[in-house]
Amino acid sequence: MKVIPVSFFVPKIQKTGNKYMSEVAFGNSDKTTNGGNRQLPEKQPNYSYGNTINQYSDKGRVEVKKSKNRSGNPIETHVKYRTGNIKQREAVYAVDGDKRYLVSLMHYDELGDNIKTIRPSGNGGAVVLELDKEKGEWNSRELSTIHYERLSYQPKLAGVLQGGINNITTQQINGPTTAAKDAEEVEKHFPITYGQPLVQTIPMYSEFPLRQIPAPKKRNVGVILSGGPAPGGHNVIAGLYDALKEANPDSKLYGFKEGVKGLTKGNSMEITDVVIDEYRNTGGFDLLKASREKLEGNKFDKVLENCKALDIDTIVIVGGDDSNTNTGLLAEWMKAHNAGIQVIGCPKTIDGDLQNEHIEMSFGFGTATKTYAELVGNLQRDASSAGKYTNFVRLMGRSASHIVLEVALRAHPNVALISEEIEAKNMSLDDIVDDIVDVIAARSEGKDDNGEKKNYSVILVPEGLLEFIPEVKRMNSSLSDILDIVSKDETFNKKSDKERFEIVKSQMSKEDAKVFDKFPDPIKNQLLLPKDDHGNTQVAKIETEKLLIDLVGQKLEKLAVEGKYKGKFSPLAHYLGYEGRSAFPSNFDADYCYSLGYNAFALAQAGLTGYMSCIKGLTRPAENWQAGGVPITSMMNIEKRHGEYVPVIQKAMVDLEGSAFKMYKNEQPHRWALKDNYKFPSGVQFFGPDSVCNKPSLTQMYSDIPETDCNLLIPKNILEASSRSFQTDEKLGRRVIKTVTPDGREFVTTTTACKEDGKRIKSKTYEIVDGEYILRSEAKYDGSGKTIIFSQVEKEGGFHYIDFPKGEWVIVDEVGNNHERRDAEEYVEALNSGEINTLAM
Ligand code: FBP
Repeated sequence: MKVIPVSFFVPKIQKTGNKYMSEVAFGNSDKTTNGGNRQLPEKQPNYSYGNTINQYSDKGRVEVKKSKNRSGNPIETHVKYRTGNIKQREAVYAVDGDKRYLVSLMHYDELGDNIKTIRPSGNGGAVVLELDKEKGEWNSRELSTIHYERLSYQPKLAGVLQGGINNITTQQINGPTTAAKDAEEVEKHFPITYGQPLVQTIPMYSEFPLRQIPAPKKRNVGVILSGGPAPGGHNVIAGLYDALKEANPDSKLYGFKEGVKGLTKGNSMEITDVVIDEYRNTGGFDLLKASREKLEGNKFDKVLENCKALDIDTIVIVGGDDSNTNTGLLAEWMKAHNAGIQVIGCPKTIDGDLQNEHIEMSFGFGTATKTYAELVGNLQRDASSAGKYTNFVRLMGRSASHIVLEVALRAHPNVALISEEIEAKNMSLDDIVDDIVDVIAARSEGKDDNGEKKNYSVILVPEGLLEFIPEVKRMNSSLSDILDIVSKDETFNKKSDKERFEIVKSQMSKEDAKVFDKFPDPIKNQLLLPKDDHGNTQVAKIETEKLLIDLVGQKLEKLAVEGKYKGKFSPLAHYLGYEGRSAFPSNFDADYCYSLGYNAFALAQAGLTGYMSCIKGLTRPAENWQAGGVPITSMMNIEKRHGEYVPVIQKAMVDLEGSAFKMYKNEQPHRWALKDNYKFPSGVQFFGPDSVCNKPSLTQMYSDIPETDCNLLIPKNILEASSRSFQTDEKLGRRVIKTVTPDGREFVTTTTACKEDGKRIKSKTYEIVDGEYILRSEAKYDGSGKTIIFSQVEKEGGFHYIDFPKGEWVIVDEVGNNHERRDAEEYVEALNSGEINTLAM
């Protein structure tokens, strides 16, 4: 029996009848909220006169005026007032069904003076007009059309958060946690915060009307963006801001500039409507900027001092593994010093290596990989059009190869190097070069099924590759230790390249020096670059794609001399990294980040510290997402950085046993290397069907596939993302449903119907592999022809019985006929009532 854990599963919030519900929450326009109604008289009604509806909430008075524009189309004007009836914000929306599109947005200061306006410009896009009150001048700048459109997008909140910040709370689940590895050592570094339990965010059920509960106290929160940019960071801030203002409009959010640098220098700005409204759903970190500074030494005192000056009680750190190591360290320090300041993290990094049992994916990964996949698809199309270039594309991702794997699954390049596999197979640099040369040579000879000679290809290279080649890793580790010492001597950096190479080589073992000498001088120089603040090699600066071009070129030349290679090798080097880190976040990342920020505030409200905000169930629609908090120390292990053993959040590497990697391995050698099976995935799409606009990454979807001995289960979400059509299959000689999954697997399903009433009786699904039809599953239907009773999947001579209810894959029983059939709703009920907390299969 296998078990799918369903921790964090929480029922959706129930809205109780005796609360006043405002119809539209400002800044959250498609959400109904009851936040803050508790100061209102018992039965404060909505009242409307003409076409204006007044709404009240903790956020002040909001007036919604429904009218028509000159062309007779419906519009809504939302006016938010400060106390004392002073206008704060006025937004005009065009209304189309349940959607609203921003027409213009105006902000007013405390005196009621218009200080900022965003409105369409004559030449497309929009213009932002900002008043410089001192000079009495209006400054203007332009926004692109898409930027303007994205300001209208209302990110979706995780289901459990939709009831409003004042109606959720957190509860502990399970017992104390340990660390990812090296528990004893980690505990020594975190004597106070180590071992905290997991928490889940849940609706706050109360026997009393909520308005009797005292209003949440005013809080001041500080936020930083840390490390490399990732799409969606601004939405974390927006979610945090909206939650905090919804809880108590007197609360304040301060953004510290340049990450930890701003925290230690006290360089901050207050985030207000005027500030955040222009940044909603935008990419990059430019609102606050970021840095890679590490928290250490007397910087902790400085942070405390700066927070006290602003009366800040919570700091939210938006960052990757290293930045959230800072979260853990700062939380521990604040506790140890009784500072009364909580610290919460949010999981960011395009690298995708901040993931574990609870953090399903760091934000930004989805958008960045979609952006890279589009560019790789374009290169593939260009390569096969021009027919003459071999493209070596290095992709960002520092250490793990998640980005390369995801892009490969989306675009189907000829080769994608996966560092983790290279390390596991103990491959040398020469082995890697040989593998690439084999593919290039075979393609040039037309060694595929149609004999076409191809002097072009696309090869993906992870930027961290060198650190995973065992011989290079050994050499690099010794090089790091040597550099830690020699770089302290100022004269070292002033020496010529050759001299510096000799100095480091003289301190290495002979073997390491030999490996070092394999590299051309420019790469040697790049290897000698100083480590970043957290002790990481700056792999973004190492041009591995050029190194491979060099080595592959040399090898092909040698083969040509021996008469073994007759093709043409015209290599092109590409590096895709910074292009993807600041893109407009996809709908998925926009929603995910908004929920992360909102939930971070829920964790702060619950008095927690040393936790990371966590949203789960990400392959399902947002309304089914769950929320919670994961103790930072539970994700830590001990690593050597700058020559010292320190606690850091453990990086997640590509799982060579995982479904995503297996998919790649099943496909690449047979279908991508020699034949062209290129896919052109295009990039992030904001408008269009759900299958192109709202899906998370493929690696996430595949990780949801239940493990079975045969990889034929297609979860509902992948099925939804697949193309499906009715057609006549020539080989089977009958009508079939053809399904092509996002990674290009092809299935045909035949159905047998009852002659009398035409209802389905049974169906069979075959996968087409190299023209062969392999039976993958059989299904039978009940008499009504609608309900699926079961599908059989061969496994070790027996069968799995699978129920296909509305949402989940649930394998109910194993082998034999006496399977128990329960549908998804029954499971949800059982989960809600606490009867079960896992789905067994
Ligand atoms: P984070 O881990 O901070 O998110 O940064 C990841 C990353 O984008 C890596 O993929 C890349 O190697 C590195 O940042 C580049 O760093 P820099 O911005 O300092 O050049």
